[in-house]
Amino acid sequence: NLTPIEQAKKLAAFACAEKHVHNGCRLGVGSGSTVKYLVEYLKNAYTSGKLTNIVCIPTSFLTKQWLINAGLPTSDLDSYPELDVCIDGADEVDAQYTCIKGGGGCLAQEKIVQNASKHFYVIADHLKDSQKLGDRYNFIPIEVLPFAAQPLLRSIPAKFGGTAQLRDAVKKCGPIVTDNGNFIIDWSFEKNVENRNWQDVQIKLANTPGIVETGLFIGVTDAVFFAYPDGSVKELVN
Ligand code: A5P
Repeated sequence: NLTPIEQAKKLAAFACAEKHVHNGCRLGVGSGSTVKYLVEYLKNAYTSGKLTNIVCIPTSFLTKQWLINAGLPTSDLDSYPELDVCIDGADEVDAQYTCIKGGGGCLAQEKIVQNASKHFYVIADHLKDSQKLGDRYNFIPIEVLPFAAQPLLRSIPAKFGGTAQLRDAVKKCGPIVTDNGNFIIDWSFEKNVENRNWQDVQIKLANTPGIVETGLFIGVTDAVFFAYPDGSVKELVN
């Protein structure tokens, strides 16, 4: 009784894990509602004995709780600084396999775990499949030090165009606080810029004092598993 979108997320997660998680795998586990189904797959495969000897490295507080509750072997980058595979969701993936991530407020740990992994696979429903960033998602989440938030809210749109907003928390008065104790600025970029060089934008943002990390994942995706409402899953290999 899952909705078609939830069903698609589950199919993408299961298809990707089936193909890319192997016995002995040191696995980075992303964050978000699609990854919840990855954890479900891992739990089934591990408890049935189909998958053995794996270790899971979470990318957020919530994913860590899911993994522990599922009874999966869970560790961290201190014990496992090099991983085989990382599987994560995304908010949008364009034709160059550039991803926007961080819609759920997790992005810095996700990028660190991705960067520690030999292979990075994205799992998503078809609504995240786009030609050009901005076709499907409206902003780029940027994690910032609270101390720098106010100047950055002015300087990011001044330098790069668009508008910027501090992300508010639900059921709390004030901004959301990330797993790292930081704030999130959602930068709504202008959509009508032709051939924008995202690598250049990323480099400039990353060089700005106070910016911890951006939700742009560029040049790191090995493949995306997109699932469609008809039950089909396509693996698009980069
Ligand atoms: C978490 O902040 C994100 O980076 C997620 O990977 C991304 O937002 C996709 O999440 P869903 O699977 O919930 O759409």
